[in-house]
This record gives sequence, C-alpha cells and structure tokens, in this order.
Amino acid sequence: MASSSVHLVFFFFTIVSAFILVSSNTFKPPKTRAFIFPIRRDEKTHQFYTELDMGTPTRFIYVVIDLGGQFTWLDCNTYNSSTYRRVSCWSTKCNATIGGDGASCMDCREKPLRPGCTRNTCATISYNPKTTITTLGGVGEDTMSLSSTDGRLSLLDVDMRRYSFACGLLNDLLTGLAKPTNGVLGLGRSPSSLSTQLSSAFKLVQHKFALCLPSSKQFYFGSIFVGGGPYYFLPYYPDDASKLLVKTPLVINPVSDPRPPINAKDFSSPDYFIDVKGIKVDGKPVISFNSSLLSIDKEGKGGTMISTMTYYTVLHSAIYKALVGDFVKEAAAKKMKRVGSVAPFGACFSSENIKNTMTGPAVPIIDLVVKGNNAPWRIYGANSIVKVKKNVLCLGFVDGGSTPRTSIILGGYQLENNLLEFDLESSMVGFSSSLLFHNASCSLSRIF
Ligand SMILES: *[C@@H]1O[C@H](CO)[C@@H](O)[C@H](O)[C@H]1NC(C)=O
Ligand SMILES: *[C@@H]1O[C@H](CO)[C@@H](O)[C@H](O)[C@H]1NC(C)=O
Ligand SMILES: *[C@@H]1O[C@H](CO)[C@@H](O)[C@H](O)[C@H]1NC(C)=O
Ligand SMILES: *[C@@H]1O[C@H](CO)[C@@H](O)[C@H](O)[C@H]1NC(C)=O
Repeated sequence: MASSSVHLVFFFFTIVSAFILVSSNTFKPPKTRAFIFPIRRDEKTHQFYTELDMGTPTRFIYVVIDLGGQFTWLDCNTYNSSTYRRVSCWSTKCNATIGGDGASCMDCREKPLRPGCTRNTCATISYNPKTTITTLGGVGEDTMSLSSTDGRLSLLDVDMRRYSFACGLLNDLLTGLAKPTNGVLGLGRSPSSLSTQLSSAFKLVQHKFALCLPSSKQFYFGSIFVGGGPYYFLPYYPDDASKLLVKTPLVINPVSDPRPPINAKDFSSPDYFIDVKGIKVDGKPVISFNSSLLSIDKEGKGGTMISTMTYYTVLHSAIYKALVGDFVKEAAAKKMKRVGSVAPFGACFSSENIKNTMTGPAVPIIDLVVKGNNAPWRIYGANSIVKVKKNVLCLGFVDGGSTPRTSIILGGYQLENNLLEFDLESSMVGFSSSLLFHNASCSLSRIF
C-alpha cells in the first residue's frame, strides 16, 4: 500500500514536470552552480567510493574515488545503455581528451558491437591505482544524472548528456578495488576529470571541487562538491565551512610516474601535491631529517601528495623515524605509556592515560607547516591515532622505506572529517583541518 502510493506521487510529479517542459518554452531550470555526490567508505579495503547515475535506463554504478585519476573508467562487461555513444577517433573530443597528436584508435571487430567494443574508436588508458595495471579502453559518452546542491541539500537532478569515460572489457580490470565498485572516478588535474567536464558543460560551475571524507559507519555519507562552496555541515556548524579553509598553492609535479601520462602534450602528474615546509609535534619542529626530501626534484621525486588510494599516511623512512621519535618523546611528557608495536605501526600506547576529546584521543598534535605563512594543517588524535585493539592506540603513520618516489603521501585516514578544496582556477588547495574541532563532521546529516 505505502509503496504504491509513493510510486503514484512520483508518477504524478513526472507528469506535471513533463507537462511544464512541453507546454512552456520559457521554462528554465534553476541556474546550477554546484553538484554533490555521496561518499562511502568500504570497510574492507578502506577505499572511498561514490555512485554515478549513468545511461538509459539510468543505472547506479559505484566507482572508487581516485583523487589523482585522469579519467573515469568503467568495467563495460555489464554496461548496457541505449544512449551510449562511442567517441570516434581523431574527433575534436578525442583530441581534447588525449591531447591531439599521438591519439590511439581502437577498432573492435567482434559482433555484436557493444560499449567498449566499437569500430574506429578513440582509445585511452585506464589505470588501476591499486594494482598499477594499465589497459587500453575505448572512450565513450553517455548521459549522467547529477544532483545539484546549494551546499546544504541534494536538490534537483540535472542531466549531463555527454559525460565521457573509458570503457574497459578486461576481466581483471577491477582487481584490488572495493567489492561493490565497477570502475574508478578520476578527480585528477586533467582535461577529462569529473570537475573539468562539469565545469566545461555548465557555464556557472567553477573549476573546483571539494572532498569531505567520512570516518567509518557505512550509513553515513561524506560528500564530493563540484563547483565550489558554500559548504554546510549541519546541524552543529551553522556557518559556511568554506570560511574555515586555509589556502596553500597547488604544486605541480613535472613527472606523471607511476601513472601513465594520457595526454600526449603534457607529462606532468595529475596528482595533487602541496608544499609542506616542515612538521611540528606539539609546536616543536621535527628537525632530524634532511629537509630536501620535502621538495620535488627534476625527476618528480620527493614532495607531499594527497591521496585517496592510500589509507594511512606513508612517510619516507627518514621522516618517519624523526616523527615517531619526537612523538614518543612528547607522549612520554604527557605520561602516555608506550606498549609493544602492532604492525604496520611503529609507536603504540596504552589507552589508559589518554583522555578522549572532541577531536579524538588527547595526544601530541602534529602540524604540517605549509607554504603561504598560514595556519598549519593540524592533525589531532582523531586523524593521527588508530585504535588497533582494546586499550591499544597506535600512531597511524607508516614507514615507506628509504627510496619511495614521494616523501609524504597524505592518506585517507588523515583526511577524514577534514574539508579539502581543490581550486583549479586559482591553483590553490584549501584545508579546514579537523571539522570535529568545530563540532562538525563530514559523516553527518546529509540526505542524498
Ligand atoms: C540491454 O537492455 C535492453 C533494454 O533494457 C534489453 O532489451 C537488452 O536485452 C539488454 N542487453 C543486454 C546484453 O543485456
Ligand atoms: C586531431 O588531431 C589529429 C592529429 O594531430 C589531426 O590530424 C586531426 O585533424 C585532429 N582532429 C580534429 C577534429 O581537429
Ligand atoms: C640532503 O639531501 C640532499 C639531496 O640528496 C644532499 O645534496 C644534501 O647534501 C643532504 N644534506 C644533508 C645535510 O645531509
Ligand atoms: C556540539 O555537538 C553536540 C552534539 O554532538 C551538542 O550537544 C553540543 O551543544 C555542541 N556544542 C557546541 C559548542 O556547539
């Protein structure tokens, strides 16, 4: 009974809106400035994923969020949509996507033709950020239904007619990715990322996006906002959270490695790097490592990258040892009792003497000092400490060995409940530090 009346109501609204659309040429949808997507965390892999409403009839497809991904790609073995179109080779769209010269073409001769297997098709590389395996996939486009937002709610659905993505057909394409997902959403610095495509398709949508990663509890959603603020995290923080953002310049790494460059004219990395100039523990600088590790050299080594595909922040061994040493010293001063380490972590403590606060366990605060003479990126207990078992809390950073490509990979655990904004127009990254400090959270109270 109840469900059939709900259907009736929807049916009624559909007829009314169809009627308005048909009967009035002057009907204009509200001017859309921003879109919102829900974020969930997979408990097994600690990957974050969202859903795309693709094709005709519309199907929800879960995709892993890859912050540095150049392109959205889907496993097309089960893709079936009457509005799917291939992007033909050497077309304007193909050239724009993969940078003109050197574009590759795919010519699939199997019958019947289907998404991912078509004639004379623009081809690009799909990169699995977990296995680092790359495959060539045909580029196609299809309708995507988007939720517009005013920063508070998920509002009207708006259709984008031609969202382009790579369509892969290999069976092991999805190896290592969270179970419910069927592909990868690329948010990287690239001509085909979600944010680039939406800002070129919708005039009022600015070329920027924000991430607010949820901390556990699969029933709560975090959010991706595309197009900029305001950002609201009701009910306890009534103000626009974009006012909390501290800005630091986006740093461009000249070398894309390990991601294959997909644009034949641009070999720089689509990943987002920032300039961390130093680290402090409870206000005291961590100095016992070579600070040249913090900058990026000509080969693209070193520096600090932000990643949604790494969960616990990975540090170059020298930085790791220095940070753990200083943290343990400050912890002892706070009467925290060290206990045996639990892999992969190197410093663990008994939870006995550690109070719980609004921002998590009351442990020494870690500050990342960033370029721009600003407030530091502050990492409180909720983002630095992992509860590994009853009464044991560990410092949630991992030793990346002495020859990692990137010196600091800021991972998902350290980003949870922090609002991050990537502004591709001004080339700045904004961070809020923990929203918990403001009694707000990414994982609260938004209905999708
Ligand atoms: C694709 O969907 C159409 C209509 O929904 C259906 O008729 C057709 O059998 C489907 N094809 C495959 C391969 O699933
Ligand atoms: C795409 O690029 C190729 C190679 O540079 C060029 O031959 C072709 O004309 C371009 N296509 C369009 C539509 O501009
Ligand atoms: C720091 O590392 C750089 C680059 O590897 C090296 O040139 C420099 O001598 C090192 N400085 C110290 C104090 O070890
Ligand atoms: C913080 O949030 C709690 C609910 O979690 C609420 O009861 C409390 O009043 C809030 N405090 C402030 C200072 O807003």
